[in-house]
Amino acid sequence: MTTPERPDQAADRTSRPRLTVIGTGYLGATHAVCMAELGFEVLAVDVDQSKIERLSAGEIPFFEPDLADLLRANLATGRLRFTTSFEEIAAFGDVHFVCVGTPQQAGGNGADLSHLNAAVGRLAPLLTRPCLVVGKSTVPAGTAADIAQTLARLAPANHTNGAAAGTNGAAAGSSGAAAALGGVQLAWNPEFLREGFAVADTLRPDRLVFGVASPAAEGALRAAFAPVIAQGVPVIVTDYATAELVKTAANSFLATKISFINAMAEVCEAVDADVLTLAEALSHDVRIGGNFLRPGVGFGGGCLPKDIRAFQARADELGVGVALRFLGEIDEINNRRRDRVVELLAAALDGTLAHRRLLVLGAAFKPNSDDVRDSPALAVADLLARTGAQVTVVDPVATHNARRALPTVAYSDRVEDSVVTGADAVVLLTEWRQFAELDPARLGPLMRRRVVIDARHALDGDRWRRAGWVYLAPGRPTGVIPTGVPAQWPVPTSAASTPPAQVAAATRVPAHAPQVG
Ligand code: UDX
Repeated sequence: MTTPERPDQAADRTSRPRLTVIGTGYLGATHAVCMAELGFEVLAVDVDQSKIERLSAGEIPFFEPDLADLLRANLATGRLRFTTSFEEIAAFGDVHFVCVGTPQQAGGNGADLSHLNAAVGRLAPLLTRPCLVVGKSTVPAGTAADIAQTLARLAPANHTNGAAAGTNGAAAGSSGAAAALGGVQLAWNPEFLREGFAVADTLRPDRLVFGVASPAAEGALRAAFAPVIAQGVPVIVTDYATAELVKTAANSFLATKISFINAMAEVCEAVDADVLTLAEALSHDVRIGGNFLRPGVGFGGGCLPKDIRAFQARADELGVGVALRFLGEIDEINNRRRDRVVELLAAALDGTLAHRRLLVLGAAFKPNSDDVRDSPALAVADLLARTGAQVTVVDPVATHNARRALPTVAYSDRVEDSVVTGADAVVLLTEWRQFAELDPARLGPLMRRRVVIDARHALDGDRWRRAGWVYLAPGRPTGVIPTGVPAQWPVPTSAASTPPAQVAAATRVPAHAPQVG
């Protein structure tokens, strides 16, 4: 299939490696598109034929701002192509980026490495000339060393005295940096991209981490990231295990910061203090900083929750479980925030949620994403539905995924009058901009009761109160609790719930609370 190279193309390739991307999920599709945007020839592979067809047609199978435009632009240049053939990528690539998912194991906390092992197992026997395999997936420390051994065992180029000939002229020529590898080598290059900012995070990351076992591998990676490095992005060169740990440590730190401020919210609730003001005051200390210090309903998504669990599981296996025991507490604080929203709402609705009509704003784990994996919003919607409430969930882009994950509630893509009419309460769980812009004065008359729980602190509480709403937000002074709050507080919705005495203390009306309404 490959056509012979012209001399000018061959010259370009001595400095510019040809890249492949294995796995076209969130990470892989973004990486492939962005590397093509940076000027590389990129061929991406996936075992899912329909995904490849959609990508080849210029369609991104998930929601990510800016990515579809870049995909189409780079397909048009011919630099970016998609295939289901591993033979084709093995012949094409100087640097192969492995971007398959490592989800949480079914029935366990560890990472499921089956996709990673399958991808490497399929690629390795096809690698007949010098090249670099680069792991980008998030993995337990020690995984890269195992994969390096697999490559050493299975890749023919490691058994044929260096640069073996490929199947034709084009495939035979490795780029200069790849040829210097002498065979097939492995590098680990963790990815730090955030959903919703994936394009910007890939084109200009905060840092590049290269876990390598030789200067030649470092050289090949530097060639593959030359346009990024030229922007001044710092490069940290290290061993495999440190590179693997950077990713899990970073996500653990971020999760810890979020749970720290959410733990402060619990304490604030006990004394009617304001966690938002507390967070703001902390953020001015440059040693602390304000990022990832937003309290609310906690973290979710495909990374933070599963990564802290897999990290603990790996630490246990390594005999250092005690060092990461605190991550279990981080997880528990995070889950308690979900229960807390249910408790606040029940308190505001006379202690009972059964048969209430509830409007949940948000299904995605965060705005600008259609990802509902471990979404706090969907988890709360589920808890509410289990109390016997009638729940309608609104999300601008995630209802398609949410319907499959939680079929027991109703959905709408917009805050239509019909979904608001007759509702007993609104619960904001994902801070989409369009929710923050809702007009409480317009919505109010449609509601049966004007109760709003702002679990992400995205609304202007004073504005909602002025429009006659009971406005409650976790970790903030409660203002006026609606009349009819029972002496006995609602039964916690899960074993992890706050004890009733603490709930009562946390939601009592302080003498100094501002009057609202
Ligand atoms: C995360 C990491 O940020 C990224 O570096 C890594 O590569 C993958 O995991 P992502 O899952 O896209 O990225 O989401 P992120 O923006 O980190 O948010 C995670 C969760 O934390 C969301 O549910 C978000 O709502 C929540 N969050 C974030 C808070 O509750 N408070 C905050 O202050 C920040």
